[in-house]
Amino acid sequence: MLRTIPGKQIAEGLSEEVAREAARFLAETGRAPALAVVLVGANPASEIYVRRKIAQCRKTGIASIEYRLDGATSQADLLALIARLNADPSVDGILVQLPLPGHIAATRVLDAITPGKDVDGFHPVNVGRLSTGTDGLVPCTPLGCMMLIDTVIDDLRGKHAVVIGKSNIVGKPIAMLLLERECTVTVTHIATQGLPDIARKADLIVAAAGSPGLVRGDWVKPGAVVIDVGINRIENADGTSKIVGDCAIGEMEHAAAVTPVPGGVGPMTIACLLANTIKAARSLHS
Ligand code: GUN
Repeated sequence: MLRTIPGKQIAEGLSEEVAREAARFLAETGRAPALAVVLVGANPASEIYVRRKIAQCRKTGIASIEYRLDGATSQADLLALIARLNADPSVDGILVQLPLPGHIAATRVLDAITPGKDVDGFHPVNVGRLSTGTDGLVPCTPLGCMMLIDTVIDDLRGKHAVVIGKSNIVGKPIAMLLLERECTVTVTHIATQGLPDIARKADLIVAAAGSPGLVRGDWVKPGAVVIDVGINRIENADGTSKIVGDCAIGEMEHAAAVTPVPGGVGPMTIACLLANTIKAARSLHS
């Protein structure tokens, strides 16, 4: 029988912990931990993600300050907002939802967020800390993936992990986290030759390609663990649509465990954002 990893349930447990921490922070400092969420333009997927993030903040006692900027906002104006948020002692975390409109250079914006408030872990200082194995803010999706992996694999040391996708948001940072745990890590991407054969050697597959059903059952070794980071909307024949992952989940019976989509990695990403906000608040006030 297919064994799924209950991401939603694990995320709820983490959120409860966050709520306790948020209450403690409020009792100690007289204010709730606060996250500034910046959305530029009206990307429908980003709208949904931002709404979920803000709803979870509310549920756990984290104050969220929402900035919805017009799609035509200039880079200079966005950088000015970031500078204000950096300097504001009542703001603990800053999240700029990606993607940004084409006329804004995302790297310029992400580089402008002060590393201590960079709850996405995208600033080069935090990226550097992650790659040197030192303490910093770690990107939320990879952090959530590691927590899910830890519920099904006792000891990662020496395991062969195959990461599919080399994005800065998931592929590269999860490769660093797995390397830190002494996995042998193969990072594959769009130009990789012979991906199915590489995947078949894996004890652990992390699929973050953004390609619906890419990972087929015969790519997965019996007893391997599959973490599906994909969130792909596909159209049904009747005109409705549904969300599917990067793995053909119906073909994964022989895997040791698989994360479902939806309800796997997605809820963990949000719970880890809240946990990072607490971490940022704590270290800014220590
Ligand atoms: N867009 C897609 N994923 C993410 C994420 O983790 N953080 C931000 N800020 N934007 C995203």
